[in-house]
Amino acid sequence: MLKKSSVIGCGSYLPSKIVSNQDLAKFVDTSDEWIKTRSGISQRHIAADDIVTSDLGEVAARRALEHAERSPADIDLIIVATTTPDRTFPATAAYIQHKLGARRGGAAFDVQAVCSGFVYALSAASALIATGQAKTALVIGAETMSRILDWNDRATSVLFGDGAGAVVLEATDDHCASYIIDHHMACDGAQADLLYVDGGPSFNRQVGHLRMKGKEVFRYAVENISHTVKTLLSRNNLSVRDIDWFVPHQANERIIKAVAQRIGMPPEKTVISVAKHANTSAASIPLAFDLAVKDGRIKKGQLVMTEAMGGGLTWGGNLFRY
Ligand code: ACO
Repeated sequence: MLKKSSVIGCGSYLPSKIVSNQDLAKFVDTSDEWIKTRSGISQRHIAADDIVTSDLGEVAARRALEHAERSPADIDLIIVATTTPDRTFPATAAYIQHKLGARRGGAAFDVQAVCSGFVYALSAASALIATGQAKTALVIGAETMSRILDWNDRATSVLFGDGAGAVVLEATDDHCASYIIDHHMACDGAQADLLYVDGGPSFNRQVGHLRMKGKEVFRYAVENISHTVKTLLSRNNLSVRDIDWFVPHQANERIIKAVAQRIGMPPEKTVISVAKHANTSAASIPLAFDLAVKDGRIKKGQLVMTEAMGGGLTWGGNLFRY
């Protein structure tokens, strides 16, 4: 008998340093007008030099634990979705476990699915709870994207930012009104060259910089995300009208709006926060989710759908009653 799980709390964290589009235009050949028109982004948060991804993830995790009324001692699984780990190894999840003082132990590992990382991590955590391998999990998306940007490449450097978001996922009884319903995950490795980092420990030993074919990525994003939404809806006999909140990966307002239009999702049900923090990769879904929970839009028992596409190409979505 598979065990149900539910999201019992959320939290997020953005580093204090804000870089507006105007600030960026002082050292990148760009303009506020170009960035806003093409992406909807107004500013991004950038981590200080001595701050690493696990520091951002730790704060988001602490906030999620407080919201869930749980302590680090309750946690027996930590999954961190990140494409900017502190080090090649150990996993950023191991560092966060230690920083939290989550002494109960249990598994702690990272998921590398770039911008789809949180979707993949939530799916993995709910599967581990379903099979009884964990009871209370922290699922964290945390990124220092600023560390892999090429500031001489204006087509990519203006689009990303640093941040973290987290949820606490816990085994629940069959009668609970909040529960994970379904997930969709996919990957097409043949498209890896559309969005990648030109470095890595095995490739050339340098961390490398993010490279992207923007137009193609845009086209695939709209196509793959729309397919994800349709798959999750049809598999669960639902229509777009049944969804209370659509929480997309916050890459680009134009992608979000193009998808929403294609699937018939009304703007008033779509959470958009990209203007404030740019694309924070795996952190963006829990960041947007936390924002909408804390400002009172997303309420307990409502039906939430997430979606993302990222390097790989990977894509997917989660469906749950909060
Ligand atoms: N500021 C000013 N001008 C710029 C900038 C900039 N930052 N970047 C590019 N330009 C110029 C180009 O040089 C080009 O000039 P030219 O016509 O003189 O040659 C012009 O703007 C148009 O460039 P394009 O690349 O054609 O611009 P496009 O309209 O395709 O927009 C963008 C680029 C925003 C990257 C778009 O393709 C996009 O949104 N792609 C999706 C990318 C994305 O969100 N990736 C995130 C990771 S994947 C994911 O999370 C879903």
